[in-house]
Amino acid sequence: MPKPIQACPLPESLAKLGLGGPCVRFALLFHTGPRKMFPLTLEAVASLMDPARLRWISFSHFEADECGALNEWLAAAPDAQPLCSALAAMVSVDDFADRPAKPLADGETHSLGTLRVQWIDTPHLPHGMETGYLFETTTRTLLCGDLFAQPGNQPPAITESENLVWEPSEAMRQEFPYAPIHGAAALLDKLAATEPQVLACMHGASYRGDGAALLHRLGAALGKH
Ligand SMILES: [Fe+2]
Ligand SMILES: [Fe+2]
Repeated sequence: MPKPIQACPLPESLAKLGLGGPCVRFALLFHTGPRKMFPLTLEAVASLMDPARLRWISFSHFEADECGALNEWLAAAPDAQPLCSALAAMVSVDDFADRPAKPLADGETHSLGTLRVQWIDTPHLPHGMETGYLFETTTRTLLCGDLFAQPGNQPPAITESENLVWEPSEAMRQEFPYAPIHGAAALLDKLAATEPQVLACMHGASYRGDGAALLHRLGAALGKH
């Protein structure tokens, strides 16, 4: 039985972002970064906590930037296991990964000790049939992966400006369109129903505010195409 993280003083860097909250007993990393960037992501995590204490390595879908360094992380954290959608586990992860995944069904919740995450299936949004997202229920943070992806370097880590996220992400969506699926707006509605207070974006600034409103705005834009 892996040992929980016992003491977790809030790192100053997270406190400054207002991302504090209850301590996590079983730490989760959402997205590994590409395999060739592993030394950099390892260094970044090490600035916050001992990487060897990670318990769960989770990701939205099976793609290099989301999980390319999965096996490197599993080697660095001996108690860690992949945590992903049931479809991702069945189709790719249980073959690719050096340790078996814990699959999550749509709507299933998973305890991190003092925090709790819920898996939400959103197939093909914006790409990959196995795609889904994690919602942390205490801090009301939606780990929304490629949604609202913004180009450029050195954005603010988090913003309360809806337009600072919306405008560049919509410009990027014109360059890299989402998969053309029916029912995209219904999937956005499903995410919005969590009423997130933080949209934790993978590419670009994260957004603190009325996350449901921004998700509905994206759903309306996608519904037109
Ligand atoms: Fe992706
Ligand atoms: Fe991505």
